[in-house]
Amino acid sequence: MAIIVCPKCEKKHNVNLDTIRENAGSGKNIAARCKSCGHKFPVALDALFARDKEVPAPEPRPAIRRICVTLSKGGVGKTTTSVNLSAGLALAGYKVLLVDTDTQGQSSYILGTKPRAGLTELLTKELSPEECIIGPGKTSGSCPGENPWQA
Ligand SMILES: Nc1ncnc2c1ncn2[C@@H]1O[C@H](COP(=O)(O)OP(=O)(O)OP(=O)(O)O)[C@@H](O)[C@H]1O
Ligand SMILES: [Mg+2]
Repeated sequence: MAIIVCPKCEKKHNVNLDTIRENAGSGKNIAARCKSCGHKFPVALDALFARDKEVPAPEPRPAIRRICVTLSKGGVGKTTTSVNLSAGLALAGYKVLLVDTDTQGQSSYILGTKPRAGLTELLTKELSPEECIIGPGKTSGSCPGENPWQA
């Protein structure tokens, strides 16, 4: 598919390049008529096909599910739930990234880690994602919030 814009009314038209290729023969230009305003104008086929080659088809992305554990009340089990849910999903074979937005960074404590960087450094772009994400393996990791051990 490609888009041809009418030079008069600027209406955008979706056109099927395969159909044009089949019907245009060896000519370098075709005449198009705008379905909206009726204006007839030339379309350079070379430019149209070249534009088609420039845009690669987007690669299919794996499905990502975001689960948010949040409640304004304190001490109700948010951290416990998110850490155990993450661990359970990782054990079930899912790729998991646990992002702790709490400045206490308690998920790191529960997971038994003392990260030197976390969400702050990631958001301020002080460090790269690779430096902020810690994890036990290739399939899962966590990005801690601020934590008490941080210098
Ligand atoms: N399902 C549960 N049953 C019993 N106790 C629990 C349960 N979930 C969490 N707790 C306990 O409740 C306390 C608070 O849990 P947690 O730290 O996960 O809450 P939180 O909502 O993250 O707290 P905060 O608002 O301070 O971040 C902890 O002592 C934890 O062990
Ligand atoms: Mg908590």
